[in-house]
Amino acid sequence: MKRLPATLIVPLAVLSLALAWVLTLGEKMRWLHEFDARNEEIALHAQSLLSVNPRTSSDAVNGSIARFDALKKVRSSRGLIHLALCLGDQAAESTTGLNGWQRLCERSKTSRRDETLEVGNLLARMNASGWKDSRGRDWQLLVFQDQGGLSAETRAAFLRNWLGLVFFLALSTAILIGQARNWILTYALSLYRALRQKAAGRIPLLPVTHELPLSRSVEQLTAKILRLPVALQAPPAPVAQIQPSEPPADADLLRLDELTRGRRMIVIANREPYIHNRRDGGIEVQRPASGLVTALEPVLRHSGGLWVAHGSGSADAETSDEHGMIGVPPGLPSYQLKRIWLSQREEQGYYYGFANEGLWPLCHLAHQSPHFRLQDWQEYRRVNARFASEIPEDWLDERSLLLVQDYHFALVPRLLKDRRGVGKISLFWHIPWPTAEKFRICPWAEELLHGMLGAGLIGFHTLTHCRNFLESCERLLEARVDRENLCVTYRGHETKVRAFPIGIDTTPVRKLDEREIGELKTRYGVGNIPFIAVGVDRLDYTKGLLERVAGVERFLEKYPRYRGEFSWIQIASPSRTTIPAYQDLSLQLEHAIQRVNDRFGDASLGYLPIRLLARHHDWEEIRWFYQMGQVALVTPLHDGMNLVAKEYVWCQSEERGSLVLSRFAGASQELTDALLVNPYSAEEIADSLDQAFSMTESERIRRMRAMKEKIARHSAFSWANDLIQATLESSPEAAPSTLPGVRIRTGT
Ligand code: F6P
Repeated sequence: MKRLPATLIVPLAVLSLALAWVLTLGEKMRWLHEFDARNEEIALHAQSLLSVNPRTSSDAVNGSIARFDALKKVRSSRGLIHLALCLGDQAAESTTGLNGWQRLCERSKTSRRDETLEVGNLLARMNASGWKDSRGRDWQLLVFQDQGGLSAETRAAFLRNWLGLVFFLALSTAILIGQARNWILTYALSLYRALRQKAAGRIPLLPVTHELPLSRSVEQLTAKILRLPVALQAPPAPVAQIQPSEPPADADLLRLDELTRGRRMIVIANREPYIHNRRDGGIEVQRPASGLVTALEPVLRHSGGLWVAHGSGSADAETSDEHGMIGVPPGLPSYQLKRIWLSQREEQGYYYGFANEGLWPLCHLAHQSPHFRLQDWQEYRRVNARFASEIPEDWLDERSLLLVQDYHFALVPRLLKDRRGVGKISLFWHIPWPTAEKFRICPWAEELLHGMLGAGLIGFHTLTHCRNFLESCERLLEARVDRENLCVTYRGHETKVRAFPIGIDTTPVRKLDEREIGELKTRYGVGNIPFIAVGVDRLDYTKGLLERVAGVERFLEKYPRYRGEFSWIQIASPSRTTIPAYQDLSLQLEHAIQRVNDRFGDASLGYLPIRLLARHHDWEEIRWFYQMGQVALVTPLHDGMNLVAKEYVWCQSEERGSLVLSRFAGASQELTDALLVNPYSAEEIADSLDQAFSMTESERIRRMRAMKEKIARHSAFSWANDLIQATLESSPEAAPSTLPGVRIRTGT
């Protein structure tokens, strides 16, 4: 037990004295009551010795004072008691040794009395009972019991009570102080971490104060001070109680086995499927938020192969061997991950610079200017060359299947092709392809196309993106473009261009029952809110988050009946946080959410219309999170596909759930039964939210069923099968060809 601070001793002492006094008083009252009961018992006994019950008859008592002698025996038989008899207000008779009792005859006649008084030198408890005899005379029997020992007993009881209380209060105060100290230390530590994250330009985690006094107010105040979106750090979903279902056998898996038999599948992607990070002294494995990983990881997990990626985790190096190789998934490895280590300069130029400040805004219609810097381009070329050359030699032969992924590696197909004897190469571009007019903004547009056309097959999510790409080749290269058969012949090599709408892993997800959904809602702080919308996105300006806030604001403005009854909970994984456009977005979003919460929230009830969970969430949490929302808001300004839309539908039971989906997401071409909206229109978002919440059950089921069927038909496996099949059917290799200035030396 820790020592108690001196400032607590005085109040504790006063409190213990007061409590001891109250307790002792209670005990004293109990003792007096016992005295009275005993006196009464003696009185009855004495009256029976007088051969009469004075309460019922008085005849036998008349003139019989002499009989009182018999009563004197009672005294000796019952300890220190005295008895006295009064006739009217005159003293009649008493036992010996009691001085001054006579005056008491005057004080009471026929009424009963219990009191403590001094009689002679005796402090006594007196019980008086009276009656009338047949001649109407008043008699009284007085019973006295010595109460002299009571004061000593009271003092002893007070001391005992006081000491007990002092011990109890000291112990419980010490325990309370210890607990409070722990809480304050934990809170201070997480506050310190949050401030450090904020200072480093990242989106901090709010200090966790759940289930503590004032926790919600402290949380809101901290969020305000840290200028965070009025956020709630979501507690983890009750994963322990919720178990996923077993995957069923699938015809797509059999087809995948057929296609890949005897071949080595190699995926080249910037993002690794498992990231090892150091955290709180241990190592944590993270599954990144990326559509590409969502779709391809289950394919490799099933078929085996090699995934080559940038090793970006803080504990990646120590968990891989000297070649950067590690078997994954952790604990049950079924394929190999090769991590490529990039210097800070390479990562800055290739990933943040050229890929994400150049190509990303170039390809998305999100009104963000692309930045093209020579140094970034040089790093992009260098890193592409490193990836192409660092694929282990023993994995490459004529039968290998090289699946290059996304806008990070436009040059890799050509570089691999130049390596010769490496098998079939395809490139899948996971983001939109802009119009030729826009694409030619890039100062290195021709070099990019030249690099891409090293692949035998180039895939996009939609036909529109394929057509845009063909048009770019036609306008920027000296190439033959066959718009009808969707292929480009360039320097004697044919590249097919195809749309493969990507899908998700359609392993069934166990549906939560109403009780579990209720528990989840409570854990996310919306236990008593009947209308819930959810969103899951990377914190990216293409996702339309600011416009979504405006839509929700309009919804509450236009449909006031939802005020206090509706919450939208948005998971937003921090992404590319060193890029200024992403930092700006984070701040703007914070302010926008604050504005709506200030306008429609109610701090006294802890009601927030919008809650932002600005941290990474794993699939383990997300699949339950989706089921909490009767509506999902998936409203990107522009998106290649957007797998969140499909995941949400897939995780819902048919009786529950509606999807509000942007017309400008690739997914809208398949999920035509969603409530399709223009994400720039606050009015459309507001109306579709109302429509979703007030839809009839049959209508909702019809829509969900139709969407589920489409998703089941085009799973991640069927997407991979179509891509692999088309890659295998693509043109055989032609002689290497390069453009001046694009030949790339390998090595750093
Ligand atoms: O396909 C998925 C995708 O959207 C990529 O285009 C994107 O690069 C990735 O997910 C997520 O972003 P990042 O890898 O930069 O975290």
